[in-house]
Amino acid sequence: MIDFSAIAASQLPRLLREMPKAELHIHIEGSLEPELIFALAQRNRVALSYPSVEALKAAYAFTDLQSFLDVYYAGASVLLTPQDFEDMAWAYFQRAAADNVVHAELFFDPQTHTARGVPMASVFQGLTRARERARTELGLSSELILCFLRHLSEDDALATLQEALPFRQDFIGVGLDSSERGHPPEKFAIAFAQARALGLRCVAHAGEEGPAAYIRNALDVLKVERVDHGVRCLEDPDLVRTLVERAMALTVCPLSNVKLCVFKSLAQHNLPQLLAAGLKVTVNSDDPAYFGGYINQNFLELFEALPALGAQEAYTLARNSIEASFISLLQQGALIARLDKVFEEAASSVR
Ligand code: ADE
Ligand code: ZN
Repeated sequence: MIDFSAIAASQLPRLLREMPKAELHIHIEGSLEPELIFALAQRNRVALSYPSVEALKAAYAFTDLQSFLDVYYAGASVLLTPQDFEDMAWAYFQRAAADNVVHAELFFDPQTHTARGVPMASVFQGLTRARERARTELGLSSELILCFLRHLSEDDALATLQEALPFRQDFIGVGLDSSERGHPPEKFAIAFAQARALGLRCVAHAGEEGPAAYIRNALDVLKVERVDHGVRCLEDPDLVRTLVERAMALTVCPLSNVKLCVFKSLAQHNLPQLLAAGLKVTVNSDDPAYFGGYINQNFLELFEALPALGAQEAYTLARNSIEASFISLLQQGALIARLDKVFEEAASSVR
């Protein structure tokens, strides 16, 4: 038993940094730092509509999800070759390892690339090479989750799934992202049914900007195993009961939610209420290059803004991230043992 009361508030920032954690909600294209966007634009002779890194950064003043997506897709337009995808993902893995991420499940948006003529094989090749390096050089395990863009048609999603089948061994699941409002989960019922039949794990963004009903339909129609964001679930107590009963994980992204104006500030984020309701909450970075920080920055700023969050909550969030991941129970057990050790040492002030 960890004695959380023996951990002083002053130890918390270090604990948040050092605790082993899994990241379950990161769009790899959202990890493209402005400097890398410009370097790749130059390497590939792609014209950007921003004259400088500073001008691009100045565009990172978002008013909602769509205002972000417009800039995010422009940034992704510099990705052409397997090397580009490898460089992007390798940069993320190095930052994640520095944050003590021990396992990461990465979203990627193939339609953003294939629509520009980039072969599906280039996307997989680059990402897979970076994953292999992360495993061997950083001891960081990872999986890929292929996201369908919900502003496009279901036929487009179905064609994308077919195109990805030669690389079936390289991805573990499918997700649903992009513009949420007006594109409910049920629009992709057939694509998700096909994915399930192929043995793919299913997750979906729901209840970020969209209503609680989208979360309900992600569960009932798409049969998702995790809900990405899901913060609007509190608007429907019946839904909260279902989510708690099923121990359904929510991959919450605090800095993203503030940047995209889902909440006015971190102090007003509902994460403490989600935890208090018994929901299996995790903390993630979403699109760290655009939203002001990687996973540890999310933890540190969140705990700074919400004094109700302490060592017990830090442990719960890290443990949830491991338990909600798609790694085996055996691997989960090993990671939880590492997590326990970090907290036990903090509680006995060995360090
Ligand atoms: N694509 C990248 N980031 C996203 C987000 N936060 N919501 C929906 N689609 C996204
Ligand atoms: Zn997201």
